[in-house]
Amino acid sequence: MKIPKLSKNKLLESDRLLISDIDNTLLGDRVALKELMDYLQSSEIAFGIATGRSIASAQQVLEEWKVSPPDLWITSVGSEIHYGDAVQADLDWREYINDRWQPELVREAIAKLSGIKLQSAEGQRTHKISYLVDPTKSPSIGEIQAYLKQHQLQVQAIYSHQDFLDILPLRASKGDAVSYCLNKWNFAMENILVAGDSGNDEQMLTSGANAVVVGNYSSELEKLRGQDRVYFAEGDYAQGILEAIAHDQGR
Ligand code: GLC
Ligand code: MG
Repeated sequence: MKIPKLSKNKLLESDRLLISDIDNTLLGDRVALKELMDYLQSSEIAFGIATGRSIASAQQVLEEWKVSPPDLWITSVGSEIHYGDAVQADLDWREYINDRWQPELVREAIAKLSGIKLQSAEGQRTHKISYLVDPTKSPSIGEIQAYLKQHQLQVQAIYSHQDFLDILPLRASKGDAVSYCLNKWNFAMENILVAGDSGNDEQMLTSGANAVVVGNYSSELEKLRGQDRVYFAEGDYAQGILEAIAHDQGR
């Protein structure tokens, strides 16, 4: 495994790491967000984001919300990984997830289903095909997964907010990207906190790290309640993350 040279990155120095989803998790409450950013800056904790957005869109929204630049960027639902201020791409990850990826065949197969249409060009990436779903007209997520399997398409189909469907290579999801980074940068599971609010966060929330589901979560995460290491916060958005940090410190 090639280890990219990083300058001034807490991934190198720190043994603790917070990885948060962006929309409706990190962002939503400006006061709590400021408190969280101040806390992170004064601490040794490395900071990562894991989002469905593309890298350009993530950069733009974090700037708008005055979020400090992350040490780790997991974008496009885990199909892309970048590091630090220089936003250096992890090319090993790109190569690793390309296994069995047949985007043309996926698009052809899904085009035959009703209630599912492609998102705009911004949502389409080399290793991510994204759709808008009308759940009153489309097959269920279970039926879509079975249908793709029947067509010998080995992929991950991820459903969020009853609105979005992402098709990713079999090896890519936010959870898989988080596990890869922990291994690559040598972090112990128990020193990681991951935060999320909706379906595309599920794999990372159940990856074995300490996890927080923020108060304003989407119903598809209800099934995680009671799972080991998954903390359901009372507080919404960044307030929920602050609450989880305090909870973890108290253990
Ligand atoms: C973000 C992405 C979109 C994706 C959704 C759910 O909104 O822009 O493409 O479908 O997250 O992962
Ligand atoms: Mg979200």
